[in-house]
Amino acid sequence: MHDSLRMQSVQTPIIPVVGELIRANPGTISLGQGVAYYGPPPEAAEAIHTCLADPENHKYKLVQGIPELLDAIESKLAQENGIHVGDGQRTMVTAGANMGFMNAVQAITDPGDEIILNLPYYFNHEMAIAIADCKALCVPTDDSYQLQPDVIEASISDRTRAVVTISPNNPTGAVYSEAALREVNAICRRKGVYHISDEAYEYFTYDGARHFSPGSIDGSSDHTISLFSLSKAYGFASWRIGWMVIPQRLFEPVRKIQDTNLICPPVISQWAAAGAMQVGSAYCRDKLRVTSEIRRLVLDRLREIDSLVTVPDARGAFYLLLRIHSETDPMDLARRLIEEHKVAVIPGTTFGIQDQCLLRVAYGALQKETATEGIDRLVAGLKHILAT
Ligand SMILES: Cc1ncc(COP(=O)(O)O)c(C=O)c1O
Repeated sequence: MHDSLRMQSVQTPIIPVVGELIRANPGTISLGQGVAYYGPPPEAAEAIHTCLADPENHKYKLVQGIPELLDAIESKLAQENGIHVGDGQRTMVTAGANMGFMNAVQAITDPGDEIILNLPYYFNHEMAIAIADCKALCVPTDDSYQLQPDVIEASISDRTRAVVTISPNNPTGAVYSEAALREVNAICRRKGVYHISDEAYEYFTYDGARHFSPGSIDGSSDHTISLFSLSKAYGFASWRIGWMVIPQRLFEPVRKIQDTNLICPPVISQWAAAGAMQVGSAYCRDKLRVTSEIRRLVLDRLREIDSLVTVPDARGAFYLLLRIHSETDPMDLARRLIEEHKVAVIPGTTFGIQDQCLLRVAYGALQKETATEGIDRLVAGLKHILAT
């Protein structure tokens, strides 16, 4: 029996390992989970009734998504993102942004090609690239986890097919400036490679930070792949709905891939998504008030231990990537925090950083009380462990 050597070389994410540790240590507060604290709006459930009333909805539907949802997406993109999906571009509904990324990688690469990821990376991006038998070429960001366009440009070779940016970012919480994203998009255009822009956290910005969509840049439509998701914005993680905006030329290849993997995104979830999108971004912005207060609370508490921990500027998503002033192995530190202090965070090694002790704190799933208790435990735990 022969099993894929390629799959053996794909990393196993640490998140399930941390999940096991949490289960083995009941009462642990998780600052590990990358999900929103809320679920979808009632309009999503109402739309499901409409869906179920029509027996046709039990059959396969278009690979690219139902027209009702595609229309809602395209008017949202025009109004909020400045992306006018017109001639030369297509929107494809996917079963989440991760699927959009897999579709993109498979559509634009051949085995051995390279895709540039900014470090720290989102682990599923690195895994998707390895699964496609390609190589993730990882480039460093600066001390504030911001893009370094000159470093990106210098890393592009004949094998490069795309540069990936995620803003607001997982795992750093960094929001990239419009200027930096324009620069990266222009580099991609000049070099003839795609710019894959993951915008799953588009609404999650704080302290005046603004989200910018590279797909809105004049002349970007031919080389920009924009990925979006309802998972975070609408509390839709388990419903599996996102979408990608792609150049027309990629429509056929992506349709072949998605037809084979999925046939069509689950129709009931698409109806629910169309219902949720009627409420629009106001839904998320309202929920964001709680997350924003929790972020402030977490940042204030972490300031008390600034001799032990640096917290780079993070004005987006719901993550902070802490730089621990220690050479301790971050997985050991994460394990001790769970076992001895009942608080869970994710070690930075998951995101491709091996030479520093980083811990990712996720605050999106928390309510105020749990957040207060969780951050108390983290601060006490770090003080205790780092002193010994
Ligand atoms: C940057 C980024 N992209 C994509 C995803 C996955 O989104 P979806 O649930 O739409 O597949 C996540 C989830 O954590 C993410 O952090």
